[in-house]
Amino acid sequence: MSTRHFLTLMDFGADELRYLIQRGAELKTMLRSGQIHEPLRGKSLGMIFEKSSTRTRVSFEVAMTQFGGASVFLSPRDTQLGRGEPIEDSARVLSRMVDAVMIRTFEHHKVETFAAHSHVPVINALTDDFHPCQLLADMQTYAEHRGSIQGSKVVWVGDGNNMCNSYINAARCFDFELVIAAPEGFEPDNQLLHDHSDRVRVEPDVHKAVAGAHLVVTDVWASMGQEAEQNDRVGAFASYQVSPALMDEADPEAIFMHCLPAHRGEEISTDMLDDPRAVVWDEAENRLHAQKALLEFLLTRQG
Ligand code: CP
Ligand code: NVA
Repeated sequence: MSTRHFLTLMDFGADELRYLIQRGAELKTMLRSGQIHEPLRGKSLGMIFEKSSTRTRVSFEVAMTQFGGASVFLSPRDTQLGRGEPIEDSARVLSRMVDAVMIRTFEHHKVETFAAHSHVPVINALTDDFHPCQLLADMQTYAEHRGSIQGSKVVWVGDGNNMCNSYINAARCFDFELVIAAPEGFEPDNQLLHDHSDRVRVEPDVHKAVAGAHLVVTDVWASMGQEAEQNDRVGAFASYQVSPALMDEADPEAIFMHCLPAHRGEEISTDMLDDPRAVVWDEAENRLHAQKALLEFLLTRQG
């Protein structure tokens, strides 16, 4: 069987993604009932982090611990990757020792290069272009709160960034309508928009965009690596803040998500996360359960 990777949602079929969401929910129930489930005993996950992380690191490490396996945290500061050892060589070496590799980095082509030279599954834990693991958690969270997302209206508010690009892929894989309210000059990848134009559109007027939305999502205005642009971006995005008042313009049953970390007073109002429509803590927790489903699938192929 050829090695499967998870670099974007498009690496998996719609049925496989639906399976992961349902399996994530099952694993959550099993954990809460105290059931020990250790399908990855003796297995190891290498975790390469070239950017900061709280949720991603903890959820992958805890996932491996709960599954009876182990994880190895690798940062460029302490490894030869940070001293210029080629990605290809690092991939060849690491994949002879660990059973899967998770990578958070800048350029998306780095995870593609690593995967092309790895004998074991590679998981994209965020690049400048995509954050597919977060989408597994988001889709599990929507299913928990509102059931199937198929045919729903999802509105992305803010920067056309890595999360937005992954929402575009999700619109295809999970079959929903995606409206992107981004200021001019901050729209997502043009090719992606073009490829998914049957279900994804840009609407710069945020009020028109959120009308009738079932799910409203936003993210920081300056992503990791864009810190120098922070001040300029605050000006460009000022009218794209998500607040309870903006949520009132959505469907009465609408919920709100944010991958976190959040900047209160910027992309969200100071009170947005206290609003009952915000499901961000469930969303954060579901990183653990959804990624357990992903690891189990990639490393045991059961299901
Ligand atoms: N949402 C997310 O990926 O969070 P971290 O940056 O804390 O991992
Ligand atoms: N778009 C954000 C997501 C953080 C989880 C970033 O890339 O920094």
